[in-house]
Amino acid sequence: MEGRVDQYAVVGHPVGHSLSPFIHSLFARQTGQVLSYRLMDVEPEHFNERVSEFFAAGGRGVNITVPHKGRALALADELTERAWRAGAVNTLAVRDDGTVLGDNTDGVGLTQDLVVNLDLTLRQRSILLIGAGGAARGVIASLLALAPQRVVVANRTAERAAALAAMFAGLGPIEGCGFGELEPTAFDVIVNATSASLSGELPQVPAAAVGPDTFCYDMAYGRGDTPFVRWARELGCRDAVPGWGMLVEQAAESFRLWRGVRPLTAPVLKALAGRAGPDGMSGISASN
Ligand code: ATR
Repeated sequence: MEGRVDQYAVVGHPVGHSLSPFIHSLFARQTGQVLSYRLMDVEPEHFNERVSEFFAAGGRGVNITVPHKGRALALADELTERAWRAGAVNTLAVRDDGTVLGDNTDGVGLTQDLVVNLDLTLRQRSILLIGAGGAARGVIASLLALAPQRVVVANRTAERAAALAAMFAGLGPIEGCGFGELEPTAFDVIVNATSASLSGELPQVPAAAVGPDTFCYDMAYGRGDTPFVRWARELGCRDAVPGWGMLVEQAAESFRLWRGVRPLTAPVLKALAGRAGPDGMSGISASN
């Protein structure tokens, strides 16, 4: 493979909307790394075969998006602890010995955006995490690592929230409940990890969860504000933002894993804003 440009791709189905090629090409230009990065639309039944072919032909790594994060977990020869805890892989990297490492950069992408870009303190703060699917599971360990006072997972289906909280109970103060069981007190930070925004819906969280000092973050992003961001602003929260920053930060972590250099994310976020984003509510940040 000598002399060839290192190849990367984002694998999903569908994947045409993905901003990852744009983001990684900006990272490469900024850091002086020479690589190619493309879209790979792969149907579920062909996932293993197509990814293995890509690696056999010299591909060095892939990002994984919907609906393949579980398949990527199974394909990896070895997992990072955070991928294992997330139960999902969003980054595969081919190592020098040819084995494939599975990682998950979603959680660190979220906390990097919250703490560094948005300058929030999470230590000793109360966090409400809305949703109990794969997106929520992917970020819990990273949130607990910041030593919050507590993380409350609230979900439309209460049992899923309780089960998810139980899974992470060893890592810090976490509890799970249904929306109706939430106490009527405002949280310091609320993160929406449901897929509700994708269908233009709003999770039915009680308005009392939002106070004037509450910071609200939607892991979903799209052109304009998401329903959750609009709802939180109308309630007079401190601020509410969609998940563009998480999208770029998780990509930067993948890039660092592959190339050993972490690109600056601020200029890329600025470029994305200039590009005005994808049409409509297409995509959650955790989905590359
Ligand atoms: P993902 O991998 O994106 O997390 P998922 O595992 O299907 O996808 O989980 C979707 C999450 O969004 C769930 O927490 C789901 O709630 P339920 O467990 O009750 O289904 C939540 N969700 C989706 N649409 C929603 C809506 N309109 N209101 C509230 N929660 C919603």
